[in-house]
Amino acid sequence: MTIRTPLTLSTIEAGAGLTEALQRDPADVRATITQSGMKGRGGAGFPTGLKWELAAKAPAPDGVRYVICNADEGEPGTFKDRVVLSEMPDLVFEGMTIAGFAIGATKGILYLRGEYIYLLDDLERCLEKRRADGLLGSDIHGTGLEFHISIFLGAGAYVCGEETALIESIEGRRGESRNRPPFPVEKGLHGAPTTVNNVETFAWTSAIFARGADWFSSIGTDRSTGPKLLSISGDVERPGVYEFPLGISIREMLEAAGGTRAKAVIVGGAAGTCVPAKDFDRAISYEDVSTGGAVIVVGPWRDLLEVAENLQWFFANESCGQCAPCRVGTVKLLDGVRDLRAGTVTAERLGDLITLGETMEFASKCGLGQAAPNVFLSMVKAFESEIKGHLVAEGSAQ
Ligand SMILES: Cc1cc2nc3c(=O)[nH]c(=O)nc-3n(C[C@H](O)[C@H](O)[C@H](O)COP(=O)(O)O)c2cc1C
Ligand code: SF4
Repeated sequence: MTIRTPLTLSTIEAGAGLTEALQRDPADVRATITQSGMKGRGGAGFPTGLKWELAAKAPAPDGVRYVICNADEGEPGTFKDRVVLSEMPDLVFEGMTIAGFAIGATKGILYLRGEYIYLLDDLERCLEKRRADGLLGSDIHGTGLEFHISIFLGAGAYVCGEETALIESIEGRRGESRNRPPFPVEKGLHGAPTTVNNVETFAWTSAIFARGADWFSSIGTDRSTGPKLLSISGDVERPGVYEFPLGISIREMLEAAGGTRAKAVIVGGAAGTCVPAKDFDRAISYEDVSTGGAVIVVGPWRDLLEVAENLQWFFANESCGQCAPCRVGTVKLLDGVRDLRAGTVTAERLGDLITLGETMEFASKCGLGQAAPNVFLSMVKAFESEIKGHLVAEGSAQ
C-alpha cells in the first residue's frame, strides 16, 4: 500500500527509545507517556498512560502481567497497521518492551490478523534478531529486565479486534466479547492485568522516548496530541497511508489525497461516522471526528444507500451472535436498507429503523453492535432529503 506522506516513524532510529526508557524507572516511563498526552491509536482513544497506570497498579496475585499488541486490523478501510508492521516492526516490538517494563510484565503477545499471515516470517525474523541482539529475553540491554514476545495468529473474525474477544481467542475459545467490568487492565489474559494496545500506539511509544514527550505533545491539539496515521481509500485520486497532525480538517486531508469533490467521508470505517461535504471543516481529533485510522471517501456519483447496504451486510456477517440487539438488529437494519433501496420503506418504517439503530447503540453488549448503526444513522441525519426521496407513501408499501 502506497505511503503518501513522509512518515515520522520511519525516521525514528530503532533502539533509541528503548535505551532512553530503560534509564528511567517504570513509574517515570508511565508518567512520560501520560505527559505526552497520547491516546490509543486503535479507535477508542483511551489515554495510554492511564491504561498503563491501571495495569501496573492492579493486583496481580502471582505477579504475572501481560502486554498485548492488537494487530487484528479488521476495520474495513484500515490498512495503516499493516504498513507499520511491514516497514518498522522494530518500533512496535520496542514499544511493547517499553510497556512491559512500565507495567511489570514479562510476556507480550502480538495478535496478528489471520489475513496478514504473509507478514509472519518477517516478523518472526525480526523477533529472532532482537533476541540475538539482547533486546528481548531474560537480560535486556544487560539490565536484568526480562521480556519475551510471541506471535498469535487470528482467524479472520472482525470481533476479535475487540480487546476482550481477542483475549478469549488467545485463550483458545471462540472470539466473543466478555462482560466488562472487569476490564483487561484488571483481569485480562488468564485473569492477569493486561494492557491491550494498537500497533500504532506501540510504534509512537518508541518515538516518544526517542524524541521526548514534549515533542509529541507539541503536535496536534490540546486534547488530541501527536501525529496520526490515516488509511485513506475510496473515491480519491491518491489512496494510501498518510500521516497528519491530529486536528487537521477533513478538507485539508481531502486536498492532500485528491478527493475535494467528495459528497461525504466515512471517518472511522464501517463503525464510523458519515460526514457530509458541508461539514468538511470539522477536525480529525478525539474531541471532534475521531478515527482509529480509516477514512473512506464517497464520490459525488455514489449511491449512499449502496454504501450503507455494503456496510450493514458486513456487520450482519460479523456479529458474533451473543446478544440479541446486535444479532437481530444487524440483520433487521440490513433488510431495512435493502428495502429503502428498493423503494418499499414508509416514513413510519424509517422511524422504526432509526429507533432500532439507537437501541442497538444503547443495548448491544460490545462495541461491534454499539457501532454497527453509526454510519446509517449519521447518513440519515446528514442526507435527510436524499434518503427521504427513497420513501414510499403510506399504504403503497408492499
Ligand atoms: C469490533 C471491534 C473491533 C476492533 N478492532 C480493533 C483492531 O483491529 N485493532 C485495534 O487496535 N483495536 C481494535 N478495536 C479496539 C480494541 O478493543 C481496543 O480498544 C484497542 O486495541 C486498544 O488499543 P489502544 O488503546 O492503543 O487504541 C476494536 C474494537 C471493536 C469493538
Ligand atoms: S454486540 Fe454483537 S459482536 Fe458484540 S457481543 Fe453482541 S452479538 Fe456479539
